[in-house]
Amino acid sequence: MRPNRWSIFAIFAFIFLHEIVQVIVPLYYKRLIDAIATLPQFDESSFHVLVAILVSIVLLRILGTAFIQISNFIAGIIQPKIRIELLRSTHRVLLQQSYRFVTNSFSGALVQKAQRFSRSFGTIAESARWNIFPAIVSITAILIVLSQRSSIFVLVVITWVFLYIVFNLIYSRWAVQFQEKRATKESETSGFLNDSVSNTMNVKLFTNLTQEEGGFRKISGELQRLITRTWNLENIRWLIEMVINIAVEFIVLYYAFQFWSKGAITVGDVVLIQSYLFSLFWVIGGIAHVIRNSFESVADAKEMVEIMHSKLEIRDARGAKELRVTRGKIEFKNVYFDYGKERRILDGLSLTIASTEKVALIGPSGTGKSTIVKLLLRFFDVSKGHIRIDGQDITKVAQDSLRGQIAFVPQDSILFHRTIMENIRYGRSDATDDEVFEASKKAHCHEFISELPEGYGAKVGERGVKLSGGERQRVAIARAILKNAPILVLDEATSSLDSESESYIQDALGELMKDKTVIVIAHRLSTIMKMDRIIVMEKGKIVDTGTHGQLLKKVGVYRKLWEIQAGGFKE
Ligand SMILES: Nc1ncnc2c1ncn2[C@@H]1O[C@H](COP(=O)(O)OP(=O)(O)OP(=O)(O)O)[C@@H](O)[C@H]1O
Ligand SMILES: [Mg+2]
Repeated sequence: MRPNRWSIFAIFAFIFLHEIVQVIVPLYYKRLIDAIATLPQFDESSFHVLVAILVSIVLLRILGTAFIQISNFIAGIIQPKIRIELLRSTHRVLLQQSYRFVTNSFSGALVQKAQRFSRSFGTIAESARWNIFPAIVSITAILIVLSQRSSIFVLVVITWVFLYIVFNLIYSRWAVQFQEKRATKESETSGFLNDSVSNTMNVKLFTNLTQEEGGFRKISGELQRLITRTWNLENIRWLIEMVINIAVEFIVLYYAFQFWSKGAITVGDVVLIQSYLFSLFWVIGGIAHVIRNSFESVADAKEMVEIMHSKLEIRDARGAKELRVTRGKIEFKNVYFDYGKERRILDGLSLTIASTEKVALIGPSGTGKSTIVKLLLRFFDVSKGHIRIDGQDITKVAQDSLRGQIAFVPQDSILFHRTIMENIRYGRSDATDDEVFEASKKAHCHEFISELPEGYGAKVGERGVKLSGGERQRVAIARAILKNAPILVLDEATSSLDSESESYIQDALGELMKDKTVIVIAHRLSTIMKMDRIIVMEKGKIVDTGTHGQLLKKVGVYRKLWEIQAGGFKE
């Protein structure tokens, strides 16, 4: 809000003027009533007096409307501006979150949290504009006017406002826990909905519609109960407020009649007090609404604020330097790692990959091959040990500079729901169209893209679902080719390709690998054979290393693999 403080000041200044007008108008009505009540008889001149008062009232009303319109006009520009700015900051914060955070959260729930966050600002801003500030101004002004009638009214009104606000604060503070529960459950519900819907294929495949519905019925049923409970709490609040209001109405009007019967105030004064009383009911009811809404909005925003205030798991060290890759030597030294407490994934792994060396990582599924890559990219930090690139500890350099030096094709490539052109260019945003075409040709995706009716302008569907697994992999490879970083990591990058396209791509990749340090994770031996060194992993440890020829001579995991794959299938 700070950058817009002058506009915000103007918004409230015009509201102030409007509220003052609102308090002055009843004073003119009082004069009108008094004039009528005291008229001995009706004549031309008294008619003029009445019309003059009426004209003043109309003019004041026009003025008040103008003030509030100006205020609304400015707010109409400023409020959305701030709200969208908040939405942008949540977008940024969510994208900065660590890999672990992202894999542990439902994206649907995160999106909802972000939206609720910016919406809650809107609610609070509306309350301040329509309720809190006008209430403060008009209550003060009304008290000033009333104090000239009798101090009893002032006393009653102050006590009333005080009780009302204190009651509401205490009640809302107590009820906020239920609001928070409701907000959490709402996030869970949308998370479930999102998870379920994005698994539509699985639901059909395993004919589990009833089970999914059951799961959703349970979670949404809980939400329903929580909403009902918050509503009931509101009804009780409303009831108590009404009882207070009725009591105040009785007391104030009772005293007003007494004063009038003693001749201390005029009929106009009674009307004035009555009309102020109704404004006060309105204004103070508004405050109660605000207190309730603010607590609700705070509950809504809380989840997002917690994310914004939480420390990022992976952060740049203070004064982190840029990573300088001169030779591309990678060193894992005594690396231990686990995702949680339960199971150790890497168990004292040490591995040195020389400059421009090409190594293959092989081993059974789940041994931690992809994990090694995630550590190298610093998606996670190691529990113990070091990873160095050209002698620089990767935890000491800026993350962006680290990731900028590594081209990575993941095991399951996910694409943006944007055009193929944009997806490939994601590898290097300043690449020209021709460079994109060239990379696609090398990755052998140019062929299938050219056959699409929209060509490079075709959208690939959410997460890239409209492409086949192999096509998606080729797009991811093109993206990596375009990035052209000194370190290249391929995690099962060609696993979804048929042998023919794979052999084409191998050629292109061979070209790409030149003068680069390369880590290839693969199950297919055809891919692995050509590497400088093969590293065989088992249960988070390296059990063997050597070239294809060397490893074949030994009796071990590698030879077994080779025999199964190359030697045909045993009967
Ligand atoms: N984000 C995660 N949180 C918790 N555990 C994980 C996470 N990612 C992977 N794991 C576990 O870590 C182990 C190693 O996983 P990793 O992906 O490194 O295996 P991999 O060797 O690449 O296997 P594959 O050949 O099947 O790709 C697995 O048992 C897996 O269940
Ligand atoms: Mg893997």
